[in-house]
Amino acid sequence: MKGNKLGLSQAQLDAYWMPFTGNRQFKRDPRMMVAAQGSYYTDADGRKIFDGLSGLWTCGFGHNIEKINAAIAKQARTLDFSPSFQYGHKGAFELAERITQFMPEGLNRVFFCGSGSEATDTALKLARGYWRKLGRAGKTKLIGRAKGYHGVNFGGISVGGIGGNKAIFGESVAADHLPHTWLPENAFSRGLPLQGADRADELLELIALHDASNIAAVIVEPLAGSGGVFPPPVGYLQRLRKICDDHDILLIFDEVICAFGRMGANTGAEAFGVKPDMINIAKQLTNGAMPMGAVIVRQDIYDCFMATDAPDYAPEIPHGYTYSAHPLACAAGLASLEVLEDENMIQRVQAISPFFESAVHELGNCANVVDVRNYGLAAGLTLQAYPGEPLRRPFEVAMSMWEKGFYVRYGGDTLQLGLPFIVEQAEITSLVNALADSLAETA
Ligand SMILES: Cc1ncc(COP(=O)(O)O)c(C=O)c1O
Repeated sequence: MKGNKLGLSQAQLDAYWMPFTGNRQFKRDPRMMVAAQGSYYTDADGRKIFDGLSGLWTCGFGHNIEKINAAIAKQARTLDFSPSFQYGHKGAFELAERITQFMPEGLNRVFFCGSGSEATDTALKLARGYWRKLGRAGKTKLIGRAKGYHGVNFGGISVGGIGGNKAIFGESVAADHLPHTWLPENAFSRGLPLQGADRADELLELIALHDASNIAAVIVEPLAGSGGVFPPPVGYLQRLRKICDDHDILLIFDEVICAFGRMGANTGAEAFGVKPDMINIAKQLTNGAMPMGAVIVRQDIYDCFMATDAPDYAPEIPHGYTYSAHPLACAAGLASLEVLEDENMIQRVQAISPFFESAVHELGNCANVVDVRNYGLAAGLTLQAYPGEPLRRPFEVAMSMWEKGFYVRYGGDTLQLGLPFIVEQAEITSLVNALADSLAETA
């Protein structure tokens, strides 16, 4: 079997139901990673593969970071697991406080979970619970945005705006959606697009439709990532903030991709100058080395749950996960945030982003590239679909890139790039040249 250099049996290949993967195609021709170092994987053929998406937007600092590995190993030998309900361990408290140092002022209470999807559900539940605690139990409606991605649990696909992720799963949570911000007049924008702030005003239409007394929260990614990389139009998030303020609606930023450097800032909130009421994080928090997510909320949101007449030994919120604040993940998170600071990761992103922007926009001249968008170390390319086959061209380009030694993400009609923060100019040039060749092959 082509590509199956690891000698997996058919039973082994069959047993693993791979997520978000064309299982039938993959198992005919597996693409297997065996090791990783810095910005590169090694595949089963011993080839070096450039990591053009930092794992899954997870490993911005590069792979196999000794400080993070050592912290995990030390923790595993000391306290491998600790019950997250009703008992604690030191690392959880240390990491919570450390995270708040990277958050906008006032967002200083941290609820841990195991992933970005769990962070979505957590934030949506906290929003509904908050209004109920304030005696406004009718405020339950949740508002997301077209092309938004908030993971795959029922909360996430409900507020999410990618139809394909909901199509076969039936009824989910009551939600409505803002329109996306991908506008033809913004095609090939460098950085933040100039048109489209008024798309936020559509929230006023939804308020007219549902009434603010029924709406709990709006959730958006500051820069929408997995839907295709859509930076916010200039002024858009500010308008969303103002409308939410005017109508007592909580604003949640899903920063699972944006937080901890990718935008050249601690958070998307900082990069774009808008403070939400809650921020969801995951991925880069541990540099991908351990699964972990969290929701960071304004202190008064936490306080309102604490203001209860129930006995103080009773949980204030019936929510949490077995793996909330897992000791190994906390150790990985603490070490990662040290690396973020000590290795000047944010400054590196700021320094290399202009070069990346120029390079990636050269691809706008290639056949079948309908749009190129970028911000920080994220970029998205929309490709012209083959008639009736919207998914095929990005897949073909990504497979051609794999043959050339590059891993890039394909999803829907887009290609996505999320480069490691340690990327060098020469690596960006090689990546872009290879992409130009691969795009030409499918022309
Ligand atoms: C913005 C955003 N939210 C949530 C998620 C879901 O995270 P996970 O796959 O860890 O559940 C992702 C994953 O890509 C994401 O990009």
